[in-house]
Amino acid sequence: MSFLTAMQERYTTKKYDNTKKIDSEKIAELKEILRLSPSSINSQPWKFTFVSDTKTKKKFAEASFFNAPKITQCDTLVVFSRIDNIDAFEKQINNNLPEGAVGYYNNFLKDKPANEIKSWFSDQTYLALGVFLSACGVMNIDATPMEGIEPEKYNAILNDKNYTTLVGVCIGYRDKNDGNMPAKNPKSRLALDEVINSI
Ligand SMILES: Cc1cc2nc3c(=O)[nH]c(=O)nc-3n(C[C@H](O)[C@H](O)[C@H](O)COP(=O)(O)O)c2cc1C
Repeated sequence: MSFLTAMQERYTTKKYDNTKKIDSEKIAELKEILRLSPSSINSQPWKFTFVSDTKTKKKFAEASFFNAPKITQCDTLVVFSRIDNIDAFEKQINNNLPEGAVGYYNNFLKDKPANEIKSWFSDQTYLALGVFLSACGVMNIDATPMEGIEPEKYNAILNDKNYTTLVGVCIGYRDKNDGNMPAKNPKSRLALDEVINSI
């Protein structure tokens, strides 16, 4: 499948077939794809939690408003978190990154207000979200990115004070009656000349 075809055919799944499971090899592949996501200076200020246990998924569903049925029906919920402890982040890059990368952070980011540094962490993590959704498209796995969740409740379930939740993603296989698939609900986007400049 070409990447363009994958982008045309992928869509935000609203209804899952809860009898269909994702092969464990494919889940392992998705984990490795996330690990390989690019980030500024290779900062990797993120954590990705795969939740397939039914009881735990139910707890997340209860903290997810209108998205709850997708979480209970899908195969796996993936929670995207960014690091929230700047000291822990600095320790991580000092231990793992070359001098030049740490120097970039020290010169251009370290002295900024904490909320700006954390926003930069979020930017990197959303990039991984884009990689993940694209990979799912290529692998014929259906997905639902969800900001319609309660991050504080997610944090309480995950119980890792160094990280905070940004977004959840359901993955699995569509119910054949899902009305949101492109064949039933064609993709809606701004026109090419409204979003692309060629100079
Ligand atoms: C960061 C992000 C958060 C989103 N949050 C939700 C959500 O909480 N629930 C939902 O059903 N769709 C959610 N969406 C899906 C978008 O509405 C959808 O991607 C957009 O309308 C384009 O449609 P498509 O993904 O089917 O091409 C979200 C998408 C993104 C990228």
